[in-house]
Amino acid sequence: MAQGPQFVEHARDGDVHVVRIANAPVNTLRTEVRAGLMAGLKAAAGAKAVVIIGSGRNFSAGAEMTEFGKPRVAPSLTDVFDAIEASPVPVVAAIHGNALGGGLELALACHARVAAPGAQVGLPEVKRGFVPGAGGTQRLPRMIGLEALKIIVGGEPVTAEQAVKMGFVDAVVTGDLEKAAVDWARANAGKSFTLARNRQDKIGGYDATAFDAAVKPLLARARGQESPKGCVEAVRAAFTLPFEEGMKVERDQFQRLVAGEQSQALRHIFFGEREAQRVTDLPADTKPLTVNKLVVIGGGTMGGGIAMSAANFGLPVTIVETSEEALQKGLERCAQNWQRSVTSGRMSQAEVDKRKSLLTGSTDFEGTVGQADLVIEAVFENMAVKKEVFARLDKAARPGVVLASNTSTLDIDEIASATARPELVIGMHFFSPANVMRLLENVRGTKTGYPAIATATEIGKRIGKLPVLVGNCDGFVGNRMTGKRGPQVEKLLLEGCLPADIDRVMEAYGMAMGPLATGDLAGLDIGMAVRKARGTVAPIADAVCAQGRFGQKTGKGWYNYDENRKRIPAPEVEAIILDVAEKMQVRRRTIDDQEILERLLLPMVNEGARILEEGVAARAIDIDVIFCNGFGWPAFRGGPMFWADRMGLKAVRDKLAHYAEATGDRNMEPCALIEKLAAEGGSFAKGK
Ligand code: NAI
Repeated sequence: MAQGPQFVEHARDGDVHVVRIANAPVNTLRTEVRAGLMAGLKAAAGAKAVVIIGSGRNFSAGAEMTEFGKPRVAPSLTDVFDAIEASPVPVVAAIHGNALGGGLELALACHARVAAPGAQVGLPEVKRGFVPGAGGTQRLPRMIGLEALKIIVGGEPVTAEQAVKMGFVDAVVTGDLEKAAVDWARANAGKSFTLARNRQDKIGGYDATAFDAAVKPLLARARGQESPKGCVEAVRAAFTLPFEEGMKVERDQFQRLVAGEQSQALRHIFFGEREAQRVTDLPADTKPLTVNKLVVIGGGTMGGGIAMSAANFGLPVTIVETSEEALQKGLERCAQNWQRSVTSGRMSQAEVDKRKSLLTGSTDFEGTVGQADLVIEAVFENMAVKKEVFARLDKAARPGVVLASNTSTLDIDEIASATARPELVIGMHFFSPANVMRLLENVRGTKTGYPAIATATEIGKRIGKLPVLVGNCDGFVGNRMTGKRGPQVEKLLLEGCLPADIDRVMEAYGMAMGPLATGDLAGLDIGMAVRKARGTVAPIADAVCAQGRFGQKTGKGWYNYDENRKRIPAPEVEAIILDVAEKMQVRRRTIDDQEILERLLLPMVNEGARILEEGVAARAIDIDVIFCNGFGWPAFRGGPMFWADRMGLKAVRDKLAHYAEATGDRNMEPCALIEKLAAEGGSFAKGK
């Protein structure tokens, strides 16, 4: 193919001009690509039709986000789209892999679209905190009416097949995409196409009531996030204003949102999720071990979820249990879980059957482990039990096989000491429910070797997880930081808050669930056992437990619960709080929301900084990614370390020192790293 300007190639195929985006790996529409598209379109003069296609695995993943916030360089995407729309012959987009964001907007500006089977098309801008900014919010509603809301406000892609049904892809074509698209363009070149911008048939008769009804469930999911609302307003403009005026509404929303903190936070997490999976010190020549067969020891809550994840991604897996009864119970729970997806219409029976066939069970420990390429242990959380299991695993597993533990608190080094292969022992800390949660903390012990690290990382990705490597310490990263919030929860209750005040502030911030409601869900006896083991007390929490209030499983905890498990403020708990405060001679006061927020988040930030000091996490972004993927932290807030950087580390230092003094919580005394960065005017993002 003749080389046009860099990043775009174009050539004639008979009477059809083919323009190919060649900007590996995902064909973002960077400046050179936009210029190349202009040149390609110009060179099409005299052709009967034009096909725009992507090289590699995708059509285009959209705008080049690293160009945001920098001076704009012409031509803009809108210039390119104007040129397409001005073309005297039809321009056909040929989509394979992904056409997302600006990539789909490019396709929508074309006269027609054809796609390879299974291609994904969508407008995920809302998830990066802004709105489609090159006409997506104006063209898509003109093609599919109110259904555009789901795609633009929801941000989830659809398949090409679904897009054909909805009406914004013209055809799914099979065989070689370029050839099929050229044939399609040639066959349809004589047809008259109405550009999306000129269509009226889907946007006539704007009905505000119907529009708001369609919007309501989409916004309900958005909680404190701004971009879904911006998307709604831009789409509304497609129904109520002429095209050019609607474009102006879209542009205003785009510029406002892209400059805002939420979008910066969302992009921080989006790029961070790729970064956090990269093990910084892994030698380039390290090879992960080949895993074709996974064995999971223990088919309880976690073992079952881990096994489901493997089967969900096509990896054969066997659960080992101690008795036939426990095994059947575990397998049955997985089967029921899958079956629910069929009942709810999320999955076909054939798909579920395929997954079920990949999951087997056994009570023959030695025999099964001997067949494993990787073992993940998920038995009871008890060191003696774990050590016994690992000693047996070491004997039964083939040499070179990695032995992983899903422990949530125990020392990986001590577990590894039960084996003769500590270099192959690693923690793989999944989160509950393990078949749903993306986060995976891979825990490296003192002796864990690179092949084990590479294997745990690779297999984590393969089964749909987001693996982040952390160091071996009590609670690893996520639980260790969250644990530091506990003393402040207790103090806030003592000094003036009720459980609902604390949860309301955290949920208004965007957390999926406040800390007390979370406690009720997990069971308050867990915290009580930890306090007992560590010899610490929490007068209020202990008194709540003493009344048999262990959370949802006992029907009551920090809250009472109705038959639908809806939380109701508990007068009994208020009485306990007032009683303890009186006994401790604490005069209760009104505590404002900002103080509640700071006293809950700052101790976590301080602990996060200690974690960085100790090297337990390699980068601040790793911590943010952990919280946004495993701890219900809203991605539009960017995670705890991002939050602290935004506040400025000098302010963080001063507030920590203030609260340490005011509340007597030594954990809140600013750690050395925060002192240092505050003095230097540094930030977590820039590094220690
Ligand atoms: P669970 O009690 O639901 O399941 C444990 C299972 O292991 C039981 O079915 C038991 O029969 C089986 N088992 C015990 N000894 C065995 C042996 N020698 N061989 C084979 N199977 C054996 O416990 P859960 O909640 O699944 O926890 C398992 C591990 O995962 C623990 O280390 C826990 O700390 C960790 N974890 C738990 C999380 C949670 O939210 N439940 C989250 C993250 C980690």
